[in-house]
Amino acid sequence: RVLTVLLLATLVLSGCQGHDSLNVLDPSGSAGQKQLDLIKWSFFLMCGVFAVVITIFIYVLIRFRKRKGIDVIPEQTHGSNTLEIIWTVIPIILLAVLAVPTVTYTFDLADMPREDDSIKVKVTGYQYWWEFQYEGMNIKTAQELHIPVGKKVHLEIHGKDVLHSFWVPALGGKMDVIPGRVNTMWLDAKKPGVYQGKCAELCGAGHALMDFKVIAEEQADFDKWVAQMQKPAVAQTASQKEGEKIFMQNCLGCHAGNNPRIIGPDLNKFGTRTTIAGILPHDEQNLKKWLKDPTSVKPGTLMPKIDYLEPKEMDALVDYLMNRK
Ligand code: CUA
Repeated sequence: RVLTVLLLATLVLSGCQGHDSLNVLDPSGSAGQKQLDLIKWSFFLMCGVFAVVITIFIYVLIRFRKRKGIDVIPEQTHGSNTLEIIWTVIPIILLAVLAVPTVTYTFDLADMPREDDSIKVKVTGYQYWWEFQYEGMNIKTAQELHIPVGKKVHLEIHGKDVLHSFWVPALGGKMDVIPGRVNTMWLDAKKPGVYQGKCAELCGAGHALMDFKVIAEEQADFDKWVAQMQKPAVAQTASQKEGEKIFMQNCLGCHAGNNPRIIGPDLNKFGTRTTIAGILPHDEQNLKKWLKDPTSVKPGTLMPKIDYLEPKEMDALVDYLMNRK
């Protein structure tokens, strides 16, 4: 039964292949590779246990079956110290064999990378979005975690409201997000790409849509991104300036980037993102849809409806936001 369940699980998981890199069986990072090694190690160990148990079971079924003409009751035994010792010692050995790599990898994955130039990011989970703050770089963003290829990125994982779980299936994870507690882990990506991230802990109505992306780039592209993120975004045209005013009056209360008690993402570099609210393609149409009726896009979101602006004001606000880059 165990084997069937595991095989089904494997089938279900491998069915994810091609869906935005959600496959844990084809990792693209060394944290994910370590976790896959552990999965394989315990899976094949259990296969071995299953094979031995089922062989003995079938042997006993056949060898000691009831035969025609033999009516005597077999000799009854009560307890056997030898057998008791054997089936106590074998599981202890198996558990130890499982525990050693599990504990080693657990410490390894929680360990801070030792390289001096390693990047440290503070990740915060909110209902239903993710904030990424790069230590010492003055970069704060949301929904999209940019990392350079081949480098371990140290993550410090915080929670603000309820339990969440930070998970990037193709790179590794998952790590619980617990308010009042700081969890740590690291990730790296072997090749450039966009890796889908998920919240893996039921956290409310918007849980299934609490997505984010890890964007792994070559060092040069990452450096370019950093430089762009550090440059202030300035409203250029008259319409953008008008939009900025509307933003100050209507949005800044929640989206004030430097306020420690913020309840909405920092939108300072909103124009550089590839998604709206982490799920919709990044275009003006979708931004309007999101602003006018956020809960139709993401149930349970704290974002209020901005449905009271004149069409001209809405256009200016969207123009301003899309050009903050
Ligand atoms: Cu956050 Cu589920």
